[in-house]
Amino acid sequence: MKAHMITYGCQMNEYDSHLVQSQLVSFGADLVDSIDEADFVLVNTCAVRGKPVDKVRSLLGQLRKVKSQRPLVVGMMGCLAQLEEGQQMARKFEVDVLLGPGSLLDIGTALESNGRFWGLQFKDELHEHIPPSPQGKLQAHLTIMRGCDHHCTYCIVPTTRGPQVSRSPDDILRELDLQLAAGVQEVTLLGQNVNAYGVDGGARLAGYPSFADLLRMVGRSGVKRIKFTTSHPMNFTEDVAAAMAETPAVCDFVHLPVQSGSSRVLRRMAREYSRETYLGHIAAIKKHLPNVVLATDIIVGFPGETEEDFQETLSLYDEVGYDSAYMFIYSPRPGTPSYKHFEDLPRELKTERLQRLIVKQKEWSKLRNATKVGTVQEVLLRGDAHSEGFLEGHTRGNHPTVVPKAFGAEGAGVYPVLIGHSTPHMLYGQIVDADGQPLPEIPRLEAQAAALISPLQMA
Ligand code: 5AD
Ligand code: SF4
Repeated sequence: MKAHMITYGCQMNEYDSHLVQSQLVSFGADLVDSIDEADFVLVNTCAVRGKPVDKVRSLLGQLRKVKSQRPLVVGMMGCLAQLEEGQQMARKFEVDVLLGPGSLLDIGTALESNGRFWGLQFKDELHEHIPPSPQGKLQAHLTIMRGCDHHCTYCIVPTTRGPQVSRSPDDILRELDLQLAAGVQEVTLLGQNVNAYGVDGGARLAGYPSFADLLRMVGRSGVKRIKFTTSHPMNFTEDVAAAMAETPAVCDFVHLPVQSGSSRVLRRMAREYSRETYLGHIAAIKKHLPNVVLATDIIVGFPGETEEDFQETLSLYDEVGYDSAYMFIYSPRPGTPSYKHFEDLPRELKTERLQRLIVKQKEWSKLRNATKVGTVQEVLLRGDAHSEGFLEGHTRGNHPTVVPKAFGAEGAGVYPVLIGHSTPHMLYGQIVDADGQPLPEIPRLEAQAAALISPLQMA
């Protein structure tokens, strides 16, 4: 069987796609790069906003067309698959295999059933399952928990991914060991709400460390860089900031979604914190980590958001001075409390607020990135880039960074980079040696010629 996977959504979906791909391979499938080559196409879906749902709808339409012309098995997995909305779509577009986020390990049964299989049960074995490590990659994701116990009124995720279940520290450390053996240098611990790790359904699990202690444990594994996402401010404790400060491998990078700067809107979102408590967390983080890089998520145009509320979001942005932000227009999702109880604001109003927020974000990102010019940053270069002769990667603070290839640093690796130039979205620099001297760059023409020659050499 030749299988092709298409992934929408967050890093958790990327992790799940990797998990399912490795299952497919273990059942004898070849992974192929395009729909044309495949006899099984599996789409990993996201349901968090209307846009990713629309993308899946049009892709499934396209796949049904292919199916009318030749034999093809179509599968759908992930968050949308768990919802009635997605299942209706699956019926309409003749989807054969459907796997909810808790039933990924049913992929084998699905393949054996020769076509039609729908799995929507949450299976406990998923938490103990350790997928093989990504080969040849310096970066890996590591799921430390699944699901979410919060009930933010706009969010569909508690419905799609179910209540929070933390993975045991043993399973986490075993998976980490395999990743380290495979050469991983940066691990991102994943969960819907990592700060609540080890406290499922409000009760601390016996033998599970707090998230802060988990960071300390992972820090002792020898991994070079540790990141984590996502944090819910409600469960944030100062001990997490302290653990970050005392664990050298943990990067000075915190993604703490605020969603709104107005306590009134936060109440309507059922976020369980106020503007003031959020700012208190930021102050604690800055106290322990003076060089911290801060990122956030913001939803604009939540139902009932007034101009005054929005101004509070803008002023909170200035107070925190975020390095980056993911900004979203509120999208009413069927099945969420805010969809049921509140009226959506006019589209133009939401768009106009988003535009103003983007202006703010750009100003801050420009300012914050400019402070990196002249500094040496530790950059994890992935070994690829959009342009020939360059390498792309990211710093410990998650800044996307571009460098020209240099002699002694032609491919993937973690290198010191002297930043020479910045934009709101990117840092540009040169790889340097231990004394801070730039390594000689590979002339661009030579790099292009090498790229032309190497396929011939390999043949
Ligand atoms: N509309 C817009 N944005 C949403 N998010 C979650 N649900 C919605 C929604 N209904 C955003 C939040 C969250 C991020 C993953 O997606 O900002 O942090
Ligand atoms: Fe990830 Fe949320 Fe989208 Fe599910 S709905 S894929 S958890 S972003």
